[in-house]
Amino acid sequence: MPIKVLTVVGARPQFVKAGVVSRALAAEGIEEILVHTGQHYDAAMSDVFFEELQIPSPAHHLGIGSGLHGSQTGRMLEAIESVLLETKPDRLLVYGDTNSTLAGALAASKLHIPIDHVEAGLRSFNRTMPEEINRIVTDHVASLLFAPTETSVTNLLHEGINGEQIIRSGDVMYDATLAAAEMAERTSTALEDLAIKPKEFILATIHRADNTDDPKLLRTIFDGLAEAANTLPVVLPLHPRTRASLEREGLLERAIEKFTLTEPKGYMDMTHLEASASLIATDSGGVQKEAFFHQVPCVTLRSETEWVELVDLGWNTVCNPASDPIPETILAQIGTRGEQASPYGDGNASSKIAAAIVSRHVAIN
Ligand code: UD1
Ligand code: UDP
Repeated sequence: MPIKVLTVVGARPQFVKAGVVSRALAAEGIEEILVHTGQHYDAAMSDVFFEELQIPSPAHHLGIGSGLHGSQTGRMLEAIESVLLETKPDRLLVYGDTNSTLAGALAASKLHIPIDHVEAGLRSFNRTMPEEINRIVTDHVASLLFAPTETSVTNLLHEGINGEQIIRSGDVMYDATLAAAEMAERTSTALEDLAIKPKEFILATIHRADNTDDPKLLRTIFDGLAEAANTLPVVLPLHPRTRASLEREGLLERAIEKFTLTEPKGYMDMTHLEASASLIATDSGGVQKEAFFHQVPCVTLRSETEWVELVDLGWNTVCNPASDPIPETILAQIGTRGEQASPYGDGNASSKIAAAIVSRHVAIN
């Protein structure tokens, strides 16, 4: 009997990760039941990734949609529990730190289904971030913790998690970038479409709740980016949360004037834009790492980052938008390079994860 793994995804970065991990699970002969919570539902936030990355259609689409944290997570919890009872998987797999991750982990833990957590052990040490709570809870109910970096292993050990459960797998987003880079360069017309030239623009993404929900901080960030745009064009694929915040604060018109504003990009266009940018300014976790994979300097518009190795290597500069000068920091980092290193593994994290699930599952049962 093949091992039956039920995977819960729901938000954009999880589709990118599933693109490589689902393939690796299939290669190991694991039967995967894919469940989409519906946390992200716009075509540009969801369908495009399934199409481009050839992810099989989810067997169950829960259609949960947006909402306050409690009601969104609660509705997911109830719906995932029903699917778990109906499908009876051997294990549950979740990625990262979203509300979909938390709901999946809680539902499985109550039913005593072993949990595999991919991207375990990341910490910002900022408990006001919803993601920090999601990660901590998920790590503490997981059976196998796939930690991408040395720091993430250390964080888990410091919290008293048994070292036998922790596997330093490397980062599946590196696998995803390697798998997409050549095709993105060959097929994406994003630069021509936006009338921009390689290495002559800044790529920016903003969506973190801290940055979008506080009107003062939102204005500071967009003023800072607008000033940087006086020197180099700023391409800004707009997350729906950020679009809504800009509209609410009456800042959207000015943003349309100052920036090359686009809808959220598909993964191939995004990969091509990242590889072609002079600098990336972002509050995204995934985009920080992708900047490094493409050897592009990055400025992180947050007060801290989970991906501390990139700061140590000199590829990433943390710029606290509440207190640090945004345009000056961005412009100073253009043209800089960090040290060479491989903190995220060798590009085979997905196959290591699939192989470990098989060997550890047999070992446990
Ligand atoms: C979520 C994750 C965050 C992750 C991000 C990736 C949580 C707590 N946060 O944040 O960790 O970095 O996804 O992008 O799980 N919306 C749409 N269409 C969509 C999706 C969202 O219009 O397809 C709008 C809705 O107004 C919604 C808002 O965006 O209320 C926020 O969406 P939500 O999924 O709650 O959080 P994200 O900010 O996307
Ligand atoms: N991404 C994308 N199009 C965009 C913005 C991001 O394809 O317009 C991809 C990006 O390349 C990365 C992932 O989405 O692979 C990161 O997701 P996001 O920034 O939404 O979430 P986070 O990583 O911060 O949780």
